[in-house]
Amino acid sequence: MTESKPGDGTVAWRRLWADTATALGDRTQARWMCEVASGCDGAEFLAELDQPAANAMVAHLDAMIARRLAGEPLQYVLGRWQFRTLDLMIDRRVLIPRPETEWVCETALAAARAMARSSLTIVDLGTGSGAIGLSMAAELAPGSASVWLTDISADALDVASANLAGIAGSAASVRVVKGSWFEALPEELRGIIDVIVANPPYIAVGDPDVEADVTSWEPHLALFAGGDGLGDIRVIVAGAVDWLRRGGAVVLEIGSDQGDATRSLLRAAGLAEVEIRQDLTGRDRIAIARRA
Ligand SMILES: C[S@@+](CC[C@H](N)C(=O)[O-])C[C@H]1O[C@@H](n2cnc3c(N)ncnc32)[C@H](O)[C@@H]1O
Repeated sequence: MTESKPGDGTVAWRRLWADTATALGDRTQARWMCEVASGCDGAEFLAELDQPAANAMVAHLDAMIARRLAGEPLQYVLGRWQFRTLDLMIDRRVLIPRPETEWVCETALAAARAMARSSLTIVDLGTGSGAIGLSMAAELAPGSASVWLTDISADALDVASANLAGIAGSAASVRVVKGSWFEALPEELRGIIDVIVANPPYIAVGDPDVEADVTSWEPHLALFAGGDGLGDIRVIVAGAVDWLRRGGAVVLEIGSDQGDATRSLLRAAGLAEVEIRQDLTGRDRIAIARRA
């Protein structure tokens, strides 16, 4: 795959990076792949540029190039992706964490911090890789929150559990539970949750606007939610009043055309202070509401 591939451990990383960039037509992606293959990041990788790569590393790099050229998303090929402060392990068992979800997490963090309580209970429903919930556990003051990660997919929870190790000291406050939305939670959390956050599936089945890359590679369980894309949002909104404490907040990522419908659902469920916020492109992206 790379032109310089004698397989005898004599090719330096500088040459492998250049050849990978040529193969991919992208120098940045090439560097990330070389970093993963070499096991060295950033300045450490630059310090290795004139060192020969071991055969196994070249083979790993070649396999990554082949997967990328076959159309697999870069994040799955690399097997990791940055989300806020975390370097998450990512593979085809989970949705690739998106930049807009970093704002959802920011909104949930702001809601949690504004509560100024010494001990918070936070639930990330449909956690996937653990991106939102683990970020909250890592970014809130140590010991200030218990964070529950849920998913219906055992595969996703395996990935989230692997990522739990990446937050070191904050991991003690995190629990991972399997089940459909609120059914995953123990009864004692009913009525005492401070923040419910979720990026549920919200694409309508058959939506012609979904990119082929997304439907071909990402888990459909993470993407689609019935004929109008609101099936899972309805379930979460309906349960939120019951599971939140008074003053607790629910924060949802929503589709760009789901603001009005989600606002109506939140109000009809008896939630207060309902707000729909837009992303950087001006499209509906976040719904937030509170139990009065
Ligand atoms: C859009 S992905 C979000 C993943 C992650 N929270 C993120 O933001 O990257 C939706 C997640 O919801 C999970 N899910 C789908 N149906 C579910 C259900 N009935 N109960 C719990 N989780 C569900 C999927 O397995 C998937 O991990």
